[in-house]
Amino acid sequence: MRLDKFLCDRNIGTRSQVKTYIRQGLVTVNNKTAQAPDQKINEEEDLVTFQGRRLRPGGFIYYMLNKPQGVVSATQDNRDTTVVDLLKGCDLPRDGVFPVGRLDKDTEGLLILTDDGEMAHRLLSPKKHVDKTYLVTAQHPLSQEDIERLEQGVDIGEERLTLPAKVELEADTQFFLTIHEGKFHQIKRMLQAVDNQVVALKRISFGGLALDEGLKPGEYRELTKQEVEILHEA
Ligand code: URA
Repeated sequence: MRLDKFLCDRNIGTRSQVKTYIRQGLVTVNNKTAQAPDQKINEEEDLVTFQGRRLRPGGFIYYMLNKPQGVVSATQDNRDTTVVDLLKGCDLPRDGVFPVGRLDKDTEGLLILTDDGEMAHRLLSPKKHVDKTYLVTAQHPLSQEDIERLEQGVDIGEERLTLPAKVELEADTQFFLTIHEGKFHQIKRMLQAVDNQVVALKRISFGGLALDEGLKPGEYRELTKQEVEILHEA
């Protein structure tokens, strides 16, 4: 593959930024300063460095994290622990890894982390309507009318009502809510729209991928090939 594409795939910069870095002599291939952005490399075998740092060979990396409460969905934060900090100490690579979307600090559950910018972009595109299912613990039980309103779409102060959602009752004040968009604090605002409130929130599936219940909060694992396929098809 082309050297500039490899560097972009590792989130080193945009195509034009990485071309500049190559021209500035910041990139080496097998211990020799790279000469040109279109230089061909074998991504599995060649040793590529940027500013002296070795870049991971091979393809993209994908993790499933059971995000605990109290951790922010960011790569860096001056105050709080981030979801990427949780990968620290792991012997798996985490260069350029970022969370696909956000869960609130007090939300737990399934979060994908990857360095595959294109896939993340696709999964988060408002046009794609990727399914997300949450286990919601609410302050009050839902009435039949609340369920109908949530399923038809509610006013959360945006230009349009929320898209039709799916409610599956689990217990008195617990239910699964599947939505197809990802507005800021969406579930909390949907509950407020039916005069209720979220007490606890856990995402249990995203784009057809279910949270591995074997993962305790704070634990993560690499996705299998089949799971990556599910996300590609989402
Ligand atoms: N909706 C919310 O209100 N919070 C989340 O973290 C995710 C969805």
